[in-house]
Amino acid sequence: MAQTVRLGFVGAGGMAKAHTDAIKDMPDVEIAAVTDAHRPAAEALAGRFGAQVFDTPEQLAADAGVDAVYILLPPFAHGEAERAALGHNLPFFVEKPVGLDLGLAREIAAEVEHKGLLTGAGYMNRYRQSVNAARELLQQDPPILAYGGWWGGSPGPAREAGIGSWWTDKSKSGGQFHEQVTHTVDLVRYLFGDAEEVFAYAATGFNKDIPGYSIDDAATVAIKFQNGGIANLMSSVSSNAGGGILLNVHSLSANVQFTGWEHSVTLRKKGEPAQEIKGEDNIFGIEDAAFLQAVRTGDGSGVRATYPDAVRTLAISVAANQSIATGKPVAV
Ligand SMILES: NC(=O)c1ccc[n+]([C@@H]2O[C@H](COP(=O)([O-])OP(=O)(O)OC[C@H]3O[C@@H](n4cnc5c(N)ncnc54)[C@H](O)[C@@H]3O)[C@@H](O)[C@H]2O)c1
Repeated sequence: MAQTVRLGFVGAGGMAKAHTDAIKDMPDVEIAAVTDAHRPAAEALAGRFGAQVFDTPEQLAADAGVDAVYILLPPFAHGEAERAALGHNLPFFVEKPVGLDLGLAREIAAEVEHKGLLTGAGYMNRYRQSVNAARELLQQDPPILAYGGWWGGSPGPAREAGIGSWWTDKSKSGGQFHEQVTHTVDLVRYLFGDAEEVFAYAATGFNKDIPGYSIDDAATVAIKFQNGGIANLMSSVSSNAGGGILLNVHSLSANVQFTGWEHSVTLRKKGEPAQEIKGEDNIFGIEDAAFLQAVRTGDGSGVRATYPDAVRTLAISVAANQSIATGKPVAV
């Protein structure tokens, strides 16, 4: 492979800005090609970097001469881009959650594994020092109970088209638990291992008169893990007097408390002074550097979240939505 890594972007919205901002000053990387269903968005992003605009992910994968593809799409829009990358054996990075249709995501994961294709998924918290210190601690002293989630205020009306228009439509985003609390679900999986069963309740009808709004106002999701541990994770878009992000984990002799988007942590071990580790604020750059190093070398060992792994996180929030709909526990 040429020394410069040429990248194609499918999706030119908010996360395309976040990743290209993180990547643009890295050495030996070229933002070479962009496609977006909303062509003006693709043109605006491409214009910043002198990149070429393509009509479809397939054309980009076939003709742009890129070494890897970033797939930065809303949950409902996945499939075509991953298949295009797979069809041309191009490593790909997908933002979280990696889809909405679990069957489709599992098919793609199986093809990725069959081909041994290098992939990355946007669970950037796995690259944090705070998270890895907690993981190391809990590997010796297994986690038993976790609780946490994301609490935010009532959203504004959906925008007509393009960027962000999908978030408040549950049929497109999967709702806040699926789209946003997926970070916490993945973090708990990173600490506990895989899940066994999920049971969830949702609150609806409190947020009123928001055009285009069909997501739950709040949800509470109980998860049973294969290691015997349990978690309760929550989402809220109805906490207008204050909210935040939190994850608290207890083991027999430790307590781990993550706070804030940056996931700073307080680690407490029985009989020892508490240890604080602040979360990094350039986390997308850290995540992107790991993926790009893997693309450059072909060695994926530095990638902490792969596409197939992210599909197992996806299965938990899909099960939560199924449990909300049926009122029954759902096996994962
Ligand atoms: N890692 C994080 O912290 C983080 C933060 C925000 C969003 N995200 C995730 O990133 C993903 C993208 O979110 P965003 O904020 O960039 O959304 P966005 O709405 O800002 O941008 C999405 C773009 O995709 C385009 N698009 C939609 N369907 C398409 C299709 N079929 N083909 C090509 N382009 C299509 C839209 O026109 C839009 O330009 C979502 O899954 C979201 O959950 C991750």
